[in-house]
Amino acid sequence: MPSGKHNLSQVTEGPPDGDDGTIAWRSLLAEATDRLASVSERPDIDARRIIETAAGFEPAEFLAGLDQLVTNRAIASYDQMIDRRLQGEPLQYVVGSWSFRYLDLMVDRRVLIPRPETEVVAGLAIAEIDAIGATKVADLGTGSGAIGLSIAHEREVEVWATDLSQEALAVARANLAALGRVATRVTLAEGSWFEALPSELMGQLDVIVSNPPYVGDDEELPSEVADWEPVTALRAGPQGTDDLHLLISQAPEWLSAGGSLVLEMAPWQTSDARDAALAAGFVAAEVFADNTGRDRAVVARKRSEA
Ligand SMILES: C[S@@+](CC[C@H](N)C(=O)[O-])C[C@H]1O[C@@H](n2cnc3c(N)ncnc32)[C@H](O)[C@@H]1O
Repeated sequence: MPSGKHNLSQVTEGPPDGDDGTIAWRSLLAEATDRLASVSERPDIDARRIIETAAGFEPAEFLAGLDQLVTNRAIASYDQMIDRRLQGEPLQYVVGSWSFRYLDLMVDRRVLIPRPETEVVAGLAIAEIDAIGATKVADLGTGSGAIGLSIAHEREVEVWATDLSQEALAVARANLAALGRVATRVTLAEGSWFEALPSELMGQLDVIVSNPPYVGDDEELPSEVADWEPVTALRAGPQGTDDLHLLISQAPEWLSAGGSLVLEMAPWQTSDARDAALAAGFVAAEVFADNTGRDRAVVARKRSEA
């Protein structure tokens, strides 16, 4: 199939896959993998996710599902998704959801696509929660809710999840609604960094975690990122460190004694951020690597009361 929309009479030109002149998903999988090679390094994965989404298959149903016949409604959805992907839109936005740790999050162009390295950062925050017996946590710049909602899902703590972007918070709210009872422990708040929080929380937060924007203003990004993801989620001043420095300098007054700040950043920003944390009065600051072995996060602890 060179390009354009399908209808079932077109796709069955040649020997039909089904007795009634319809085709099975298996034929479209081969076609999609072939077409998506122009925009993706892993067209097989893109094709699989698009077919799973169009057909409504769970991942475990995919292989058996390939022999099912395609319905008209599913093929319209498949065609739309293939067209969007061929125009360079990231797969995650095309299929509308992405997995993050144990959650399946709704994502669209209003939010940054949650990244595997951020799963590691959420894990570092959870390790801090366990180590200090945290009960109150804030995820600042929550976007889709990836970090904050994962924490609330995995640990019985109260979570404040904030963002400057109303649009991002709408996505986080949809993802929160899908969590059922866990949602009663999560509060979403709009505002710039700590301004989103009520003043009663000052000195009360046991863990503050953030994956803030950390790309420099002139730093080049792949077009799949630069053309599609929200710029407010990416750029943070000439060195990309403006938001990191603000968070490091203001976190101590919001943290409880012995509380932890967990920040994601670029590998080349980690030693500067560790130094900034020690200069801001944190008693310990350690750099952690991500899933690819690159330095990716700083965890800083506030002094415990004597
Ligand atoms: C790199 S994205 C991270 C999103 C999400 N936490 C994640 O890890 O996938 C940064 C987020 O910070 C938000 N943000 C940018 N400036 C902000 C500010 N001044 N105050 C609060 N949030 C801000 C953006 O809207 C975006 O959702």
